[in-house]
Amino acid sequence: MSRSPVIVFFLSLSYSLLFLAPSCHAATNTLTKGQSIKDGEILTSVDENFELGFFSPGNSTSRYVGVRYSKIQDQAVIWVANRDKPISGTDGVVKIGEDGNLLVVNGNGSSVWSSNASFVSSNTALMLDTTGNLILSSNDSIGDTDKAYWQSFNNPTDTYLPDMKVLIGSAEIYAFTSWKSTSDPSPGNFTMGVDPRGAPQIVVWEQSRRRWRSGHWNGLIFSGVPSMAAFTTYRYGFKITRENDGKLYFTYNPSDPSELMKFQITWNGFEEQKRWNKSAKAWQVMQSQPSEECEKYNHCGNFGVCTPSGSPNCRCLEGFQPRHPDQWRLGNWSGGCERRSPLQCQMNTSNGGEDGFKAVRCAKLPDFADVYQLSSDDCKKKCQNNCSCKAYAHVTGIRCMIWNGDLTDVQNHIQSGNTLYMRLAYSELDHSRLPTYVIVLIVLAGLVFVAISIWLLWMLKKKLKATSASMSTNHELQVHDLSRSKEYTTDLSGPGDLVLEGSQVNGPDLPMFNFNFVAVATNNFSEENKLGQGGFGLVYKGKLPGGEEIAVKRLSKISGQGLLEFKNEIILIAKLQHRNLVRLLGCSIQGDEKMLIYEYMPNKSLDYFLFDPEKQGLLEWNKRFEIIEGIARGLLYLHRDSRLRIIHRDLKASNILLDEGMNPKISDFGMARIFGANQNEINTNRVVGTYGYMAPEYAMEGLFSVKSDVYSFGVLLLEIVSGRRNTSFRMGSLE
Ligand SMILES: *[C@@H]1O[C@H](CO)[C@@H](O)[C@H](O)[C@H]1NC(C)=O
Ligand SMILES: *[C@@H]1O[C@H](CO)[C@@H](O)[C@H](O)[C@H]1NC(C)=O
Ligand SMILES: *[C@@H]1O[C@H](CO)[C@@H](O)[C@H](O)[C@H]1NC(C)=O
Ligand SMILES: *[C@@H]1O[C@H](CO)[C@@H](O)[C@H](O)[C@H]1NC(C)=O
Ligand SMILES: *[C@@H]1O[C@H](CO)[C@@H](O)[C@H](O)[C@H]1NC(C)=O
Ligand SMILES: *[C@@H]1O[C@H](CO)[C@@H](O)[C@H](O)[C@H]1NC(C)=O
Ligand SMILES: *[C@@H]1O[C@H](CO)[C@@H](O)[C@H](O)[C@H]1NC(C)=O
Ligand SMILES: *[C@@H]1O[C@H](CO)[C@@H](O)[C@H](O)[C@H]1NC(C)=O
Ligand SMILES: *[C@@H]1O[C@H](CO)[C@@H](O)[C@H](O)[C@H]1NC(C)=O
Repeated sequence: MSRSPVIVFFLSLSYSLLFLAPSCHAATNTLTKGQSIKDGEILTSVDENFELGFFSPGNSTSRYVGVRYSKIQDQAVIWVANRDKPISGTDGVVKIGEDGNLLVVNGNGSSVWSSNASFVSSNTALMLDTTGNLILSSNDSIGDTDKAYWQSFNNPTDTYLPDMKVLIGSAEIYAFTSWKSTSDPSPGNFTMGVDPRGAPQIVVWEQSRRRWRSGHWNGLIFSGVPSMAAFTTYRYGFKITRENDGKLYFTYNPSDPSELMKFQITWNGFEEQKRWNKSAKAWQVMQSQPSEECEKYNHCGNFGVCTPSGSPNCRCLEGFQPRHPDQWRLGNWSGGCERRSPLQCQMNTSNGGEDGFKAVRCAKLPDFADVYQLSSDDCKKKCQNNCSCKAYAHVTGIRCMIWNGDLTDVQNHIQSGNTLYMRLAYSELDHSRLPTYVIVLIVLAGLVFVAISIWLLWMLKKKLKATSASMSTNHELQVHDLSRSKEYTTDLSGPGDLVLEGSQVNGPDLPMFNFNFVAVATNNFSEENKLGQGGFGLVYKGKLPGGEEIAVKRLSKISGQGLLEFKNEIILIAKLQHRNLVRLLGCSIQGDEKMLIYEYMPNKSLDYFLFDPEKQGLLEWNKRFEIIEGIARGLLYLHRDSRLRIIHRDLKASNILLDEGMNPKISDFGMARIFGANQNEINTNRVVGTYGYMAPEYAMEGLFSVKSDVYSFGVLLLEIVSGRRNTSFRMGSLE
């Protein structure tokens, strides 16, 4: 009984504290009608990271109203209101006008700047929120960006802050404009914004001429910025989102929210990314573009290519020559290059050979691409069939890019970049004329090989003569030795090791994905996204920001698939391209986490259909025949037609995936072996594979060859025809 008044007292105390707390802050971080901010006073955000007030930049004595950082020593200004209408004295005032707009008023009481919002209620309030955004809204929804009449983030000056949305419209948008000088915030010569055509990219303009561009956004990075390939330092959560208004926006967020970060177009025309270094108490420039001659837009002219390490930087693309050779020799690259031999499709006669394509690797792809959602093959066809197509590229995350105009602003990077396929006349293509040193090497290798073979045969003959009784065992020994000497294992360090050390030797064709990115794509490896359990870990379904679906094989840390099989799979698959082999899109390695990213196969695997009493019916005889043919083609490619000779060693129904058209694709190369061109058999101590599919001589003696795969294929063929598992028992059929 006596305790309840005490409780009531504490309850009422905490209530009043709750209500008091926000109202204390409201006095400093909102501005309502009738209130004003005089020169020398400030409006701060709740967390006191930002403030609004009067300032004089650099050597200027004029007064401007702006938003700047408040806690840190370098109170860099991130937004300016009256950038081209300074106030001369210190008698300026910021207030809310009669019509509800935010006003900057000079000493004579005339307005020098207005927020100019068209639909405002007369009862408005201004709030500076914790992101640095000034929000003007009605006084009963203070700080609500959704109901804002006006906000500074939609009217930025030269600084792009985290959480700020940059519209990706249907045409170029100049979002940010530089200051004129460090002492003059009025609009300068440089702007920065987004060019949405094809795939969006960031562009810096000088007046209306392009000065720099980031290269196309591929869902992960801006593909033309080499330093961006090192994801962690650059990406900082860049992403494209579709907002409630149905429009697309670029946003970014530092991975550590307490970190202060900004992008800026500087007065002298550089796009700069800066980060506040707490210990050094200074802004640290993370990257600044254009950072070198080659980064300057179209430095080498049309059809030229700029190589940062080259001397001189500029060359013509292969098959092209300088348009003005005298100027070019003097180092005036602006004229660019022209085609050396006309294309067949441009001529009326048809005496030359067909035009072809030449690959340019590690390129910053040219500007002004048209983008189509086509596969690599269809992309090539599309380009081939239209004479105005100058080049094409197929890029993960963007897909088919086609260039119909001149190729502008091409750069050659050392490591990152994409492969550009340029259309050239038949006479410009090298028709497998190998350089002489390669021919000499091949001849030498051939001679050595013949000598060794003769020697081995001679030895064998001698042995056979000596011990004709135990011929078979000796023969096996021989095979064993042979394999030791010439087995090409993928255990050799090399690309695999380098990849695992986390450096970017992934090459142009195999992108490395950041772990967090994959986590986001697969909804944090959620249960709904789980596709199944592969041999060495779980398989998840994921979705790239561009909408492309992927399958992610996450190797469990304790799985049998060690480093060896992982490396094996990466190296093999990256080199193989065939419509009946599953395509690897990339990989991800971060500490213990190893993941392989494949194209997604909507129809799962063959066993899912074949051994299910209901789904079986969906596989008609025609379809089964096509599937068998497809597998055979894939296998033939592995054994005969690819540049390497590969034994898969684990061919089975669950390793045959089906795409949307039920076309079979062989997957799971964790156990595959590369064979030398003249090698027929290998003996191994590690017998791996699946019982029921393994050839007897392999299961029992470890001897394997292309024939072991053919054996497995035979078993698979019987399974496809019969619809029964090779290991299943059917008692019913005995009755
Ligand atoms: C201010 O003026 C001095 C002397 O004219 C000059 O050295 C300095 O660079 C100027 N500072 C700025 C920020 O413009
Ligand atoms: C403000 O008033 C002063 C003196 O009355 C005058 O010299 C000045 O030009 C006025 N400024 C503006 C911006 O009207
Ligand atoms: C506001 O509108 C006036 C008159 O239309 C114009 O002179 C002024 O430049 C505008 N201010 C801003 C900040 O857009
Ligand atoms: C908004 O302003 C009007 C007029 O000044 C005032 O009557 C009303 O109480 C204010 N509302 C809030 C939520 O402050
Ligand atoms: C801006 O352009 C004008 C006119 O072309 C030029 O005089 C001025 O030097 C330029 N300013 C900068 C900072 O480049
Ligand atoms: C901050 O600056 C200090 C001194 O310049 C430097 O040693 C440190 O690496 C910087 N910190 C970061 C995170 O870059
Ligand atoms: C550079 O070459 C172009 C023609 O390619 C010419 O029009 C221009 O005047 C030259 N510039 C200089 C500085 O010589
Ligand atoms: C091809 O023929 C057309 C008209 O017949 C002619 O205008 C054009 O110049 C010819 N092109 C070439 C490369 O001869
Ligand atoms: C070739 O491409 C150009 C540019 O996209 C287009 O205008 C033209 O219609 C195409 N021609 C054919 C035959 O498809």
